[in-house]
Amino acid sequence: LFSRVEMAPRDPILGLNEQFAADPNPNKVNLGIGVYTDADGKLPLLACVKAAEAQLMQAPKPRGYLPIDGIAAYDKAVQGLVFGANHEAVTSGRIATVQGLGGTGGLKVGADFLKRINPDARVLISDPSWENHRALFEAAGFSVGTYPYYDAAQQGVNFDAMLAALNAASAGTIVVLHACCHNPTGYDISPAQWNQVIATLKARDLVPFLDMAYQGFGEGIAEDGAVIQQFLAAGLDFFVATSFSKSFSLYGERVGALSVVCATKDEAGRVLSQIKRVIRSNYSNPPTHGAQIVATVLSSPELRAQWEQELAGMRERIRAMRSTLVEKLAAAGVKGDLSYITRQKGMFSYSGLSAAQMERLRTEFGVYGVSTGRICVAAINLHNVDYVAKSIAAVMQ
Ligand code: LMR
Repeated sequence: LFSRVEMAPRDPILGLNEQFAADPNPNKVNLGIGVYTDADGKLPLLACVKAAEAQLMQAPKPRGYLPIDGIAAYDKAVQGLVFGANHEAVTSGRIATVQGLGGTGGLKVGADFLKRINPDARVLISDPSWENHRALFEAAGFSVGTYPYYDAAQQGVNFDAMLAALNAASAGTIVVLHACCHNPTGYDISPAQWNQVIATLKARDLVPFLDMAYQGFGEGIAEDGAVIQQFLAAGLDFFVATSFSKSFSLYGERVGALSVVCATKDEAGRVLSQIKRVIRSNYSNPPTHGAQIVATVLSSPELRAQWEQELAGMRERIRAMRSTLVEKLAAAGVKGDLSYITRQKGMFSYSGLSAAQMERLRTEFGVYGVSTGRICVAAINLHNVDYVAKSIAAVMQ
């Protein structure tokens, strides 16, 4: 049975963790995966999470099955955060939201649902995009293409080419968009450019699927979420995958959501019923703990304020590290304009290093980044920044 099974390639991101763990280099630094570590290189347990867990432990509950779509209070909290509790789309009940297994789970459930209702559609992801976007939509049975995004020469977004590709897409094409903190490049488009994208999506009858895994890591929770308001204002039907892995530092709890904005409450009810079928035949129903924590924090004014402060702390530390990295790279002899590093948003910097240079970084210095040149600035700190900068400078010689 298994004699012809071929060895699969390592996952381009998670595979690096395996390699990193096996590397005996005492100076090794993991800038591969998108995980925030604090000033001492430790994965934080947020105080708001600790407080919510303490609260939950005061009256521990037995663990029965959750409903297929998850904890109702959690789904409501997600809608409040992502769309605004008082927005007509929320109050009228025309958004179907389900608890998901991280942002990836939301994307996968959405992709499987779309395959059922729109089997012949094509999917377009940005060039480049998060490695798993292609894999997820291909696994759902779609053919996946790209729209231009990154412009290496301009160190930014090739917006005209992006818009032209969307304009050329056939009706029904599913367009995967990064709501904020584009992964891997860190380059976001402006609100005015979003308006142009939205107008095109609407005119061409395309299906927007927003991946929002880094809300709060760009400019702020509201600022990063503003794009959702632009989509709502345009009256589009669209999908949003939400992740709390990063914003709550709850990576291992796999806590996220999928929301589908529909035209009417009746539509949302039918969509929800189909999404529940997708979930039931996939993992049946979601786990309890992570979603309880997030629901507890988001529904308590004190804990929510604490969360916002802690998230701002993570965002600001990353920003400070971007500036420090620029200084250290210049001090290590890297020439040229490095200001792109401070213009990029979120956890990542798209360094422009080649696959060969990234390989040298790993093998010669134990500095792990993704082969595409993506490095996780959220894992840089004052203890490792000199070493990281000198290593990068060395492979650039
Ligand atoms: C990343 O891009 O590194 C994160 O989203 C983690 C992952 O699952 O790939």
